[in-house]
Amino acid sequence: MKLIDGKAVAAQIKMEIAEEVKQIIAAGGKRPHLAAILVGHDGGSETYVANKVKTCDETGFQSTLIRYEDDVAEETLLNKVKELNGNPDIDGFIVQLPLPKHISEQRVIQTIDYRKDVDGFHPVNMGRMAIGLPCFVSATPAGIVELLKRYGIETSGKHCVVLGRSNIVGKPVASLLMQKSVPGNCTVTVCHSHTKDIRKYCLNADIIIAALGAPGFLKAEMVKDGAVVIDVGTTRVPSTETKSGFKLKGDVEFDTVAPKCSFITPVPGGVGPMTIISLMRNTLLAAKKVVA
Ligand code: GUN
Repeated sequence: MKLIDGKAVAAQIKMEIAEEVKQIIAAGGKRPHLAAILVGHDGGSETYVANKVKTCDETGFQSTLIRYEDDVAEETLLNKVKELNGNPDIDGFIVQLPLPKHISEQRVIQTIDYRKDVDGFHPVNMGRMAIGLPCFVSATPAGIVELLKRYGIETSGKHCVVLGRSNIVGKPVASLLMQKSVPGNCTVTVCHSHTKDIRKYCLNADIIIAALGAPGFLKAEMVKDGAVVIDVGTTRVPSTETKSGFKLKGDVEFDTVAPKCSFITPVPGGVGPMTIISLMRNTLLAAKKVVA
């Protein structure tokens, strides 16, 4: 069993990005600038956004954090999005999800100029990704594919089971892995809450990507020997062991599943650090105007 060290890979890519930013600045170019809009005080979102801002500092990007309270009007948010669209100093921006119930996430996402949509959530980017055109690939799927690539994990002809069909992870990662590319060329099965006998599909899988948000869902009896398991779950569960009073729990029952795997990602330290680094990479692409 080999542990996939997302933290180490992310640190390596962070250095590569910081080096590229240095070269851009040395050549008289503009520092890449990422803006983030955070609504409310959800603990998970606060942590993610703080990490994004910190990673901007570490890679030499400029960052701007824009905050609103939970009761912000949808129109106020949409106007801010439009302002960022038109601000030439901002290369890319994100609106941290989830948003309060009175705000339409889709309306917000579709108001973002797709050329600044470094989250890759806009339908133009989703559609372009699905047909293999240059685009911003959303951060978590991009991070997963990068890990498979850097660990030299064969995907061609393999059966990949994706657990979960979210717009943020399940759908895009299934789409990427079925593509005629490397990594890619998988036969993909997407399982979700209405799938009958998920165990049957998982037992047949060479690669399992668990993105359900159900802590400890994937058990050893659902995994065949030698499988590759990628755990995308990051549920915050209360814990007396940590200072913050919670810890992150993945969708995989790690202790029992890991001994059966050829490769497995831990939680934390697997997919999570890769997600932020993929966002930085997209912002660098936005600054270089590669996706237009
Ligand atoms: N919420 C959970 N993951 C993400 C992400 O990648 N981007 C944004 N904007 N919100 C999220």
